Amino acid sequence: QKIERAEEDTVAYTVEDGIAWVKFNRPEKRNCMSPKLNRQMGRVIADLEFREDVKVLVLTGEGDAWSAGMDLKEYFRETEAEGLWSIRKAQREAYSWWERLRWYEKPTIAMINGWCFGGGYGPLFACDIAVASEDAQFGLSEINWGILPGGGASKVAADLMPLRKAMYHAMMGENLTGKQAEEQGLVTEAVPADQLHARVLEIAQALCKKDGHALRATKWAVRRMTEMTYDNAEDYLIRAQEALHNFGGVEARKEATRQFLDEKSFKPGLGTFDT
Ligand code: ACO
Repeated sequence: QKIERAEEDTVAYTVEDGIAWVKFNRPEKRNCMSPKLNRQMGRVIADLEFREDVKVLVLTGEGDAWSAGMDLKEYFRETEAEGLWSIRKAQREAYSWWERLRWYEKPTIAMINGWCFGGGYGPLFACDIAVASEDAQFGLSEINWGILPGGGASKVAADLMPLRKAMYHAMMGENLTGKQAEEQGLVTEAVPADQLHARVLEIAQALCKKDGHALRATKWAVRRMTEMTYDNAEDYLIRAQEALHNFGGVEARKEATRQFLDEKSFKPGLGTFDT
C-alpha cells in the first residue's frame, strides 16, 4: 500500500518531561530522507532547540528503520532530472539540519532502532550520544549501487572508526550489527532491542539533571578538540570555561564546591550536585 505523506507528516515528535522524542516518520519508505523530510526536520529541530521545556533531544525512527539513508527517488533521481540547482537545494536542505544538530544547544541522543544507511550517518554523527539496538543494521551501501559515501558519510566513518575498519566498511558494503557498530566505534553502545527505549530514557533523564550550560560547553568542546592542536585546545578550553562564567558558572561551581567540601552532601566522583 502506497502512502503519500504531507511534508509536515514526515517527522513526528512529542515533548515529555524535558525530553523531545523526534522521529523520522516515513516507515513505509524505511524513513529514507526525501527533500520533504529534510525540510520538515529542519523546521522541527529549529522549533525545539530554544524551547524552555526541552532539555534533551532524542532522534529515532518510526517502524523498523532508523533511516535507510537518502531517498534514491526523491532526493537523487527527481532532483537530477530537474538539474543542478535542484540537486544543490536538496543537498543544502539535508546538510543544514545535520549541521544544526552537530552544534545543537541541547544534548542529543540517536536511538537507532533499525536500519541505518549511508546518508543516515550524517545525523548519526551529529548526535552527541548514539545508542543502538543490538540487531540494528549499519551500512555504507553506496558502493553497492555505484557511488561513494558522500554527504559526509566517508568523513563520519574515518572519524569514528579505526581506519582499517572504516576502509573495509566503505569498500565492501557489508552491514554491521549494532553490536559490531559499538565495537568499531560507530555508536556509543548497543543494547538488546527490548531495552533500547529504557536505556535511552535513563541517559536522557541523567542529562536533564545536569547543568545545561556546562553540558553545551562540554559537547562543543569535545567536538572542537578533534581538529585542534594541543596548544590550541588548551587555550580554547580556558576561554570556554571563562565564557561559562557568564552563564552562572561561577555560582554553580561555588555551590557545588560548598556541597562537597563543607556540607559533604555529594561527591562529584559519584554523581551530580543538587542545583
Ligand atoms: N530510497 C528510496 N526508497 C527507499 C529507500 C531509499 N533509500 N529505502 C527503502 N525505500 C523504499 C523501497 O523502495 C520500498 O518502496 P515501495 O514500497 O514503494 O516499493 C519501501 O521503501 C520499503 O522498502 P523495502 O526494500 O521493500 O523494505 P525491506 O524491509 O525489504 O528492506 C532495506 C529494507 C534493506 C532498508 C531496503 O529498503 C534498502 O536496501 N534500502 C536502501 C538502503 C540504501 O542503500 N540507502 C541508500 C544509502 S546511500 C545514501 O544514502 C547516499
